[in-house]
Parts: sequence; C-alpha cells; structure tokens
Amino acid sequence: MSVAKNTYNRVTTNSLLKMKANGEKISMLTAYDFTLAGLVDQAGVDVILVGDSASNVIAGHETTLPITLDQMIYHAGAVIRGVKRGLVLVDLPFGAYQGDSKEALKSAIRIMKESGAHAVKLEGGFQVKSSIERIIQAGIPVMGHLGLTPQSIYKFGTYTVRAKEEAEANQLIEDAKMLEEVGCFGLVLEKVPAKLAEKIALIVSIPVIGIGAGNGVDGQVLVLHDMLGMSKEFSPRFLRRYLDLHTEIIGAIQQYTNDVKTKDFPNESEQY
Ligand code: KIV
Repeated sequence: MSVAKNTYNRVTTNSLLKMKANGEKISMLTAYDFTLAGLVDQAGVDVILVGDSASNVIAGHETTLPITLDQMIYHAGAVIRGVKRGLVLVDLPFGAYQGDSKEALKSAIRIMKESGAHAVKLEGGFQVKSSIERIIQAGIPVMGHLGLTPQSIYKFGTYTVRAKEEAEANQLIEDAKMLEEVGCFGLVLEKVPAKLAEKIALIVSIPVIGIGAGNGVDGQVLVLHDMLGMSKEFSPRFLRRYLDLHTEIIGAIQQYTNDVKTKDFPNESEQY
C-alpha cells in the first residue's frame, strides 16, 4: 500500500518545497550502503540521508563525533549508486565545518564531487551561519539541523528533549528563521516539544523534518536500522519499530548454523 503521491520522478530540493506548499508530508530515512539505499529508494522514500549516525549504527561508536569526512564520502558514494529517485542528503561530519567557512566549503565540495550527492546537512544555528552561507553561495543545497544536535552532545551532556525552556525555544525560532533567510532548503528538528516544532513549521516556508518533534511538521525522519528493529537497545519514545529484524535475523542465522552442523545444508539441489 502506498499513500505517497509519487509524482516526482526525481526528488529535488524544489520538489520538497512544492510538497510542503501542497501539504504533502515528506518521508526521509537514513541509509549508509548500496543495498539498503536501493530498498529505501524503491519503497518511495523522498529523502535518503547518509547520516553521521553511521558512526553509531555502522561503526559502533558511542557518539557521532569520530566519523571522518573520508568515511562519510565512502558511505555516500555507495548510497548514490543505489538510488534512482530520492534526494541523497549527506551529513557534514563533526570537525568538517565548524572551524571556518572556507574549511566548511572545502568539505561540502569534497562530498558533492567525490560521492555525487545532491545536498549536505549540518548542525547548528547562528554559530555556523557563515559556513552555511558560503556553501550555499557555491551552489550546494544545505539542510539545517536544530534542537538536539548530536555532534554537540558533550556540550549538552544528555540526549534529553531540547528547548523546553522559553529562552532556548525563542533561540530555536530565531535560528530556524535565519536558516530560511540564508537559503537553506529545509531543516531537521530533533527532539523538541511538538507544539514548538509545529509553530516553527508554520513560521518558515521551507520544509521542517522532525525526529521526535511530533506530527505538526512537514515530514519525518528515522534511522533505518532503528525503525527496522535491528537493535533492541535503543528505545526512545519517538521510535516506531516496523519490523523486529533483530529477532528475525538471529533466528535465520541460528537456523543456518544448525543446518550446517547437522549436514542439512547444502542438499543435493544446492550443489554442482
Ligand atoms: O545522522 C542522522 O541519522 C541524523 C538524523 C537523526 C536526522 O542526523
């Protein structure tokens, strides 16, 4: 069953703006490799995010900080080769854009040139404004990311909901307006109160994609491995699991091991 209108042969930043204007919700999921990116794309997801969550999900790090620009480019190249329809968006990793705007532009250009990605995403508001401006001036589409920004986890000290206090909420609104003003084509809002997220989605004309930000925004994003239930450990309130792949995969692999040990596999039709 599909409720997506799917009238966009190739999703572009322009199609996302149109989706918001038409009230069509935008679906976004992460992918880090060719095979899963192909499945996500065939299923009709609009935006495929090569997230720096690869640092956690693929490499097993506790935070997103260790992943490098070279590693992000490697993942992005694999995803691009698997995608025909969706817009492929790539995270600029920690350390690749915070220093100065020249460094930020160099990093964004490397991602676009070496992977063939369609756009980049980076975390933060006014503190990274000059980097965002410089990247956009070079013709590279940028998506912002506000609220819980995991690259700043050591500053926050916790992964709890952001902007519950008025001062932080007001700052978030100003940051979102600034992202629109400098030309971002959208922004992610992570783990902020649903009412605040809805207010921001009404204020700005660019699409607001939420994760743990309620249903009043213009689209949703989840980490693919989380929504497929690959792990049982990570269970935030915002996560809906659509499969229990953890159980399925372990069951299948146990069955295979058992078949090998009992000499059931391979049978006659499975040999030459
Ligand atoms: O890296 C990532 O997966 C993300 C999403 C959580 C939005 O940035």
